[in-house]
Amino acid sequence: MDPESPSHDDIGEAALTDIELELFVRAMQRRHGYDFSQYAPASLLRRVRQLANSLECGTISGLTSRTLHQPELLPRVLEGLSVPVSDMFRDPRVFRALREQVLPILASYPRIDIWQAGCAHGEEVYSLAILLEEAGLYERSHIFATDLSTRALQHAQEGIYPAREAQQWSRNYIATGGTRSFADYYSVRYNLLKIDKRLRRNVTFAQHNLVSDKVFCEAHLVLCRNVLIYFSNPLQSHALALFRDSLVRGGFLCLGLRESTDFATTAADFDPFDEPQRIYRRSIHPAAGSKA
Ligand SMILES: C[S@@+](CC[C@H](N)C(=O)[O-])C[C@H]1O[C@@H](n2cnc3c(N)ncnc32)[C@H](O)[C@@H]1O
Repeated sequence: MDPESPSHDDIGEAALTDIELELFVRAMQRRHGYDFSQYAPASLLRRVRQLANSLECGTISGLTSRTLHQPELLPRVLEGLSVPVSDMFRDPRVFRALREQVLPILASYPRIDIWQAGCAHGEEVYSLAILLEEAGLYERSHIFATDLSTRALQHAQEGIYPAREAQQWSRNYIATGGTRSFADYYSVRYNLLKIDKRLRRNVTFAQHNLVSDKVFCEAHLVLCRNVLIYFSNPLQSHALALFRDSLVRGGFLCLGLRESTDFATTAADFDPFDEPQRIYRRSIHPAAGSKA
């Protein structure tokens, strides 16, 4: 044994956890091709621990072993690592800005393609669909809704949520400037609220990994909110480069309220449009060195 390396007794608990996390990340990459090495470590560790607990693995190493030997667990593991928390019209002021400032500009395009990356359980997809419907733009729009987690996508596609959310979501809808009744868009059965399937008619749900997959579509609006916060700075820059390459010139990018393009290598490719609501436009002028 290398006399320099620590013995079992003097290695601290935190160092052991670091090793376990590193081995788990490596196992996910080599066994399943999912690379979490550039996720912010503190929140990744929290989710890995929660997952190990909920699958009753005892330790992160136990989870690593099951991830390696039970490939059928993968959708469950991906779901555990993602944080599919969302809301209809989450941060209503953002959706108000989309309704009042962005959609009137998008209305000038004959066809409107929207990429919603990290759609989780679909609440934002249906919120957007409602805005498009009310602006009379839905028929010529298409929403490509993507996420890493296949289980989250399945949930999004079903559009079924706890009915107890209805009141809050109705308040959010009104705060976006909605003038109809939010209840027009769903039906309730027992304690579940089911989104009207009309809102799904121009939506495509698909798995897409912002870490390893290529540009998904040509888009006039990319909405990716509360996903970049889980990424390291270089990975944020990578995702923003995908969005830039996806957007037509002058196309819109909408990020989460705690996210921005400021520190990305691609910052110069985006111009602020409504900065407090984190809405940007792909620059009309190519930045030096960027793709035309
Ligand atoms: C907190 S939710 C955000 C949901 C919604 N956009 C919102 O703001 O309410 C984060 C979502 O990002 C997804 N995600 C995490 N890493 C991803 C990746 N590499 N590629 C695509 N989606 C990812 C997760 O699966 C999760 O559904």
